[in-house]
Amino acid sequence: MHAICTRTYGEPDVLSLSDYPTPALAPGEYLVKVEASSVNPVDWKVRRGEVRFFSGLHTPPPILGADFSGTIAACGPGTRDFKPGDEVFGMVRAFKGGAYAEYVKVTSQNIARKPRNLSFEEAAAFPLVGLTVYQGLVEKTTLTKGQQVLVNGCCGGVGHIAVQMAKLLGAEVTGVCSAENADLARRLGAAHVIDYRNSDITAEKGRYDIFFDAVNNQSFRSARSTLTPKGIYMTTMPAFDNIVIAPMLNHLRAQQHLSLWVKPNRKALEAMTPWIESGKLRPHVSHRFPMEAIAEAHQLSESGKVAGKIVLQGVNAATG
Ligand SMILES: NC(=O)c1ccc[n+]([C@@H]2O[C@H](COP(=O)([O-])OP(=O)(O)OC[C@H]3O[C@@H](n4cnc5c(N)ncnc54)[C@H](OP(=O)(O)O)[C@@H]3O)[C@@H](O)[C@H]2O)c1
Repeated sequence: MHAICTRTYGEPDVLSLSDYPTPALAPGEYLVKVEASSVNPVDWKVRRGEVRFFSGLHTPPPILGADFSGTIAACGPGTRDFKPGDEVFGMVRAFKGGAYAEYVKVTSQNIARKPRNLSFEEAAAFPLVGLTVYQGLVEKTTLTKGQQVLVNGCCGGVGHIAVQMAKLLGAEVTGVCSAENADLARRLGAAHVIDYRNSDITAEKGRYDIFFDAVNNQSFRSARSTLTPKGIYMTTMPAFDNIVIAPMLNHLRAQQHLSLWVKPNRKALEAMTPWIESGKLRPHVSHRFPMEAIAEAHQLSESGKVAGKIVLQGVNAATG
C-alpha cells in the first residue's frame, strides 16, 4: 500500500510517501481503507521526537497519524460488528500511529459507523478531538444546565468541539481566542468571547464551573481564582504534576485539577453520533491537503494558528 512513512525523528521532511506492506489481520481485527485522515498536534510532537518515551526511544512509529475515516476493506477471523463496505470513522493511538496510509488496521474498539451527515473528510477531522472533549465534559464531569464553562483556545481542534459540546450540554460558554476568530467562536456557540491579546483571561473571579484549557498556557494555580468553589480546571497537557500530584491533592480540596488523555473509544463515538447527526456538533475543516503534502500540513499545524482542523485526503486519492 501507499503510506506516509517516517524512518527518523525530525523536521517535516522526514515524512515521505512510500510503499509499505499492507497490514495483515489477526483475529478480531479489521482493515479500513482510509478515505481521509487529519492532523493533530500530537502527530508532529511524535515526529519531532518530543514524546519518545511513548512513541519509541530511538525510532518513530513507521507511519504516523491517529484520525481516519473510510470503509471496511476486510474483516479478520471472529469479527462480527462490521462488514466489508461499512463506512466508519475512528482513531488509533497517536503514539503508535498508522492512519497516514492507504489502509489502517483496527479493532472494533477503534471505530464506529460514520455519521450519515458528515463527508469522509469531516468525519476524519472529529475522532481524536471529539473523544478528548467527551472525556472531559461527559466522562470526567457532569455538566448541568446553566453552568459556566471557559474554553481557552476555543477555535482550535479541541476547543471548537469543546465550545459546541459544552453548549449542547446546557452550559453558557466563554471562548478565548484571537480577535480574528471571534466571529467563528460566536458561531460555534460561545456566548462571550475574550481576546487573549487584549484581556487577562484570569481576571474574572469565582465564575467558571469548568476552565477547559486547550492551549495549556495556564495552570490550576493561575486559573484557580476564576473557578467557582467546586470548579474544575481541565488541561489537555498531561504532565507529572497533573497526572501524579493533582489526583492526590484533589482529595484535599473542593476545586479539582483534571487532565485529559485521549483514547480510542467506540462507545463514546457512538454516543456523540446523534449530536453530530442532529447538527448540534460539527467539526470545522479549515484546510485540506492531499496526503502527499503532509509536510506542508504539519508546518501549518505547528504554527499554532489553525482554526478547526486540517484534513488529509486519502493517500489513494493523492496518488491516483
Ligand atoms: N491529552 C490529550 O489527550 C490531548 C488530546 C488532544 C489535544 N491535546 C493537546 O491539546 C493542545 C491543543 O490541541 P488542538 O488540536 O486544539 O491544537 P490546535 O488546533 O493546533 O490549536 C490551535 C488554536 O490555538 C489557538 N491559540 C493559540 N495560542 C492561543 C492563546 N494564547 N490563547 C488562546 N488560543 C490560542 C489558536 O487560536 P487563535 O488563532 O485565535 O490564536 C488556534 O485556533 C495541543 O497541545 C495538543 O497536543 C492533548
